[in-house]
Amino acid sequence: MFAWLGLALVALVALWFVDAPYGRRARSGWGPGIPNRLAWCVMESVVLIAFYATSAAAGVTPSGPTWVMGGLLTLHYVNRAFVYPWRTRTRGKTMPLTVMLLSIGFNTVNGAFLGADLMRLNRPDAWFADPRFVVGLCVFAAGMALNWHSDGVLLRLRAPGETGYKIPRDGAFRWVTSPNLLGEIIEWAGFAILTWSLAGLTFFVWTCANLVPRARSNQRWYHEKFPDYPKQRRALIPGLW
Ligand SMILES: NC(=O)c1ccc[n+]([C@@H]2O[C@H](COP(=O)([O-])OP(=O)(O)OC[C@H]3O[C@@H](n4cnc5c(N)ncnc54)[C@H](OP(=O)(O)O)[C@@H]3O)[C@@H](O)[C@H]2O)c1
Repeated sequence: MFAWLGLALVALVALWFVDAPYGRRARSGWGPGIPNRLAWCVMESVVLIAFYATSAAAGVTPSGPTWVMGGLLTLHYVNRAFVYPWRTRTRGKTMPLTVMLLSIGFNTVNGAFLGADLMRLNRPDAWFADPRFVVGLCVFAAGMALNWHSDGVLLRLRAPGETGYKIPRDGAFRWVTSPNLLGEIIEWAGFAILTWSLAGLTFFVWTCANLVPRARSNQRWYHEKFPDYPKQRRALIPGLW
C-alpha cells in the first residue's frame, strides 16, 4: 500500500503539468470516445465490486462500525455511478477510453485496498463512541453535503439540451471555483479519520492528487473563458487559494 501511496504523489506531479482530458478539458489523442454517462457509470461502479469482493474474501463477519463504513462508501458510489451520470447534461459528449481505463484501474485498486483494510481492522462496536469516528463522520457528512450541493448547482446551470458553460454563482461558488471538488476532498478526509486506516488515508491522498491540480486548471479555464469572471473567487480554499 505504501507503493500505491507513492504513486499518488507521482500522479499529483503529472496532473499538475498535464490536464486530465475529460469534461471541459476533453481533447483528442487519448483513444476513442466513450459516451459520458456510460463511462462514469462503469468506472465508478467498479469500486463497489472491488470493495465487496475483497470484503467477502476476507472471511470475517463485519462488525457494526465496518458495516457503517461500507455503507458510507456505498452511499457515495451509488450516487456517483448510478445517479449523478443521469443528472448530467452532457448529451453527445464523450470521455476518452484512456481516461476511463485509468479510472477503472485506480478505482479497482482503491476499492480492494479499502475492503481488505476495513475488514482487517473490523473495528469493535466501541468504535462508535470513539472521537475519531464521531469527528470523522461529521467531516464526511459536511463534505458530502458540499459536494452534492455544488454538483447540483453546476448540473442545473444547463437547460435540457444545452451543453455549453456558464458562470456558477450559487452556494459555495460565491467563494471558490470548485466547491464540488473541495467537498469531495473534505469527504474523504472525514472517511480517513472515521476509519483511521491506511487505506482511508491513501484514498484521501489520491483524491487530493486528482482534484487539487484539477481545481487549479478549472480556475485558469474560467478566467480565460469569461472576462467578467469574479476576481475575488479563489480556486479551492476560501480566501486563500
Ligand atoms: N475522488 C476523485 O478522485 C474524483 C476524481 C474526479 C472527479 N470526482 C468527482 O466527480 C464529480 C465530477 O467531477 P468533474 O471533474 O467532472 O466536475 P466538473 O468539471 O465540475 O463537472 C461537473 C458537471 O457539471 C458540468 N459543468 C461544469 N462546469 C459547468 C459550467 N460552468 N456550466 C455548465 N455546466 C458545467 C460538467 O459538464 P461537462 O462534462 O460538459 O464539462 C459536468 O457534467 C465531482 O463531484 C468530483 O468531486 C472525484
